[in-house]
Amino acid sequence: MADPSPPRDCSFADADWHALSRCWFPIAYAQEVGEKPLGARLLDMALVIWRTSSGVSVARDLCPHRGTPLSMGWVEDGAIVCPYHGFRYGPDGACRLVPAHPDRPIPPRLRLASFLAVERYGLVWTRLAGEMPAEEGLPVFPAWDDPAWQRITPPFVDIAGSPGRQMEGFLDVAHFAWVHTETFADPDNQVVPPYKVSPTGRGVEAQYWSTVPNWPKGLERPTPEGFLWLRHFEVFPPFSALLTIHFPGDDRLCILNAASPVAARRTRLFVPIAKNFGTDQPVEPVHAFNARIFAEDQAIVENQKPEDLPLDLAMEAHITADRMSVPYRQLLARMGLGRGFTA
Ligand code: FES
Ligand SMILES: [Fe+2]
Repeated sequence: MADPSPPRDCSFADADWHALSRCWFPIAYAQEVGEKPLGARLLDMALVIWRTSSGVSVARDLCPHRGTPLSMGWVEDGAIVCPYHGFRYGPDGACRLVPAHPDRPIPPRLRLASFLAVERYGLVWTRLAGEMPAEEGLPVFPAWDDPAWQRITPPFVDIAGSPGRQMEGFLDVAHFAWVHTETFADPDNQVVPPYKVSPTGRGVEAQYWSTVPNWPKGLERPTPEGFLWLRHFEVFPPFSALLTIHFPGDDRLCILNAASPVAARRTRLFVPIAKNFGTDQPVEPVHAFNARIFAEDQAIVENQKPEDLPLDLAMEAHITADRMSVPYRQLLARMGLGRGFTA
């Protein structure tokens, strides 16, 4: 299929939309996609996701007959059915049946605009254009596939802010003592020790050692004398990062921040989590803790100006503690996201 054009009422600058359309993004939790087709939005484009015995399919949420959203339809006999005139489309998007003329040849134009879809890390990922295979485009999250770890999929969070600002906030280690004082951080522990950031094949990584614990407030456990907490960040541009928190002993918690650009200033945040301790514990307290932390961040992200992340480094001031966000902005600029992204 030819690469699609930016949709009507696109909120992105043209060049930014094309650069982002080549990237893989999550659009739903895999467990949400069942019998009923599910609507989603990515880069201002309305999508429909449905499941058949051949797996998950993603297409534009638009029947090519009369423009009805297929997310209003249903799945029957391995096909998605349009609710207006009952046309049926296979997992590949080709029309299989026009019920008004079951014996007539089906016009080749009756084909959905379909996109590649993969299920990984509990999420359905798609990309709208380009050739990048999933292996090169998805974040790397090995703990997710280790059966000894507990996998947790907290509900997604809809943020009225840009995915770039959200992602940079996830990488920001100087805000804990200010924004997260109700959940895990200490308002008096403000100093950010120096930390190292290194390039990786895909992006950058950082090892941040500090005395900021990660116990939920009220559920603190003893921390060994002199223990330093390591937070290991791995950035997968444009909008995913894996944070591995090293608890005392060998306990590890991995948080994948996977921000999906619904629109230039609307983000759907998916945060699949894996941990190797308390693996038989109920997931609800983790959902609740996660929701409180991201709500604390949301209040900031939804109010920053300009709304989009300024990729021109001269537009905002940077301090030593920001040593991860500067290369992050440079990575986005190198992807072809331009000044338009800051407008
Ligand atoms: S609009 Fe979908 S079948 Fe007519
Ligand atoms: Fe935060």
